[in-house]
Amino acid sequence: MNNQFFPNDFLWGASTSAFQVEGAAYAEGKGISVADLRTKKKNHIQMDTTVTVDHYHHLEEDVQLMVELGLKAYRFSISWTRIFPNGDTKEINPKGVEFYHRLIDLLNANGIEPIVTMFHFDYPMSLIEKFGGWESKQSINSFFDYATFLLKEYGSKVTYWLTINEQNVMVNQPDIMGIEDTDSSELYKKAQYANINMCIAQAKVFSLVEHKYPKLKVGPAVSYITALPENGTSENVLLAKTIEDMFSFSLMDISLRGKIPQQYLNMLENAGISLPISKEEMKILSEGTANYLAVNWYCTTTFRQKDVFDPKKALMENVEVCKSKWLEYTNWGWSFDPVGIRYALQQLHDRYPDIPVLITECGWSDTDELVDGKIYDNKRIAYLNDHIHQLGLSIRDGVNLIGFCPWSFIDLLSVNDGMDKRYGLVYVDRDNFNERSMKRYKKESFYFYKKVISSNGHNTLNE
Ligand code: BG6
Repeated sequence: MNNQFFPNDFLWGASTSAFQVEGAAYAEGKGISVADLRTKKKNHIQMDTTVTVDHYHHLEEDVQLMVELGLKAYRFSISWTRIFPNGDTKEINPKGVEFYHRLIDLLNANGIEPIVTMFHFDYPMSLIEKFGGWESKQSINSFFDYATFLLKEYGSKVTYWLTINEQNVMVNQPDIMGIEDTDSSELYKKAQYANINMCIAQAKVFSLVEHKYPKLKVGPAVSYITALPENGTSENVLLAKTIEDMFSFSLMDISLRGKIPQQYLNMLENAGISLPISKEEMKILSEGTANYLAVNWYCTTTFRQKDVFDPKKALMENVEVCKSKWLEYTNWGWSFDPVGIRYALQQLHDRYPDIPVLITECGWSDTDELVDGKIYDNKRIAYLNDHIHQLGLSIRDGVNLIGFCPWSFIDLLSVNDGMDKRYGLVYVDRDNFNERSMKRYKKESFYFYKKVISSNGHNTLNE
C-alpha cells in the first residue's frame, strides 16, 4: 500500500522528555523535581533521574543522530527546575537557560522544528513544600510565570509549544505530580482540584499566546486512551465511551472549546466534589483556548466494570483492564492495535474538525538487546510501519494531522518501569544499575524510520 497522503510539510519527528533523558539532575544549578524524588525512592529496583542517558552531556552527539535520522521535528520538554530551581521567578539558573538555547539553536540550524513541552511530570519540589503544588490555587500563577518566561526567552525561536504533558494521566496517578493521600476519596478530590487548576493555568497561557505571540502554536499534550468494551453489550460499550469521554475528551473539550462538559461535572457531583472555580476563572477558561492539539496515543485498552462501583473513587479505579483475545501485547500489557489509531483520529476529527492534530507520543516498548553492535527491534519496526500506514489512511479520511513524533527518539527512563523497558530508535549502552559505555547505537528501527522520513511516508514495509 502506498502512503501517498502525507503533505510535504508533514512533521516527521520523535519525542523525549527532560527528566527521562537529561541526567545532571542534581547538577548545573538545577533544583529538585517530583520526578527526581519519585524515582530516587525506587532506585533499589530501577534507575533514577541522576544520570539517565546523560543527554545533558551528549547534546551535540544526540542532535547529530537526529540529523542523520532526517528528523523534521524534535519534541522535548524543558525542565522547570533547571530554569527556576525553586519553581519561582526569584532565582533563575543561567546554565539551564543557556542549555535550552544551545539545543534549540542546534535544532534550528539543522532544519529540525523544535516542539517544546513546558511541563512534563517534573513539578518543582519547593512549590510542593511551599503550597502543596497543583492542588493549590497558587500553582496557577507559578505555572503562568514560568510559561511567560519561556515564551519571552525562546518564543522567537520556537513555534510549537505544549503546555502540560498528560495532565489526565497525572490526575489518575496523582503521585506523579506529588499529590498523595491514604484516603482514596480525598485523593480523588485533590486530584480533581489539581485538574481544574491546571486547566486554568494553561488557559491563561493560551490567552497570552493569542494576544502577545499570535504566530505561535500552543496546545495541551493529552493522553488519549482508546477504550474498547470487553463484550458487545450496550452497558459495556457505554462504559468504554464514558472512559474516553472522562479520561481524554473532558480535558480536550476544556482546552479546545473552553467549556467544562456537563458529564464531567455530573461525575464529580456523584462523588460529592464541587470544583473550586470562580466566575472569573470560568471566563479565563472560555477565553483561553488552544490552537492545536497534541495527542499521546500508544494502543487500545479493553475495559470491564468492577463488580462494585464506588462513585467516590476515580473512574479508573472502578474499572479493570483486561486482555483482548484478538490482540498481541508488550511485556507490560500494552496492545498492538494499529487500526485503533485511525479510529482515534476519526473521533478527534468528528469532534474538533478545525483543529490540527499532532501525535506527540506513540511507540513500542521492549527489552531490546545489543547483539554484535546491532539491535534487531523488528517488532518496533512492524509497530511503526503499521501505525504510519494507518496515519496515511487517516489523512486520506480528511483528518488534519500535521505530524508524528514517536516515543522515543532515544532509550530513556520509563515513567513506571525504569530502563528495562526501552522505546528508543537509538539504543543507549547502559542498564538500570550500570552506566556501562553510554555509547549510542542506531537500532534497525532507526534505519527503517529514516527511510520513511526520506520518502515522506511512502517507503513502508507494505510496499
Ligand atoms: C506517557 C508519558 O505517559 O507514556 C511518557 O508522557 C512515558 O513520559 C510514556 O514515558 C510511556 O510510559 P512508561 O511508563 O512506559 O514510561
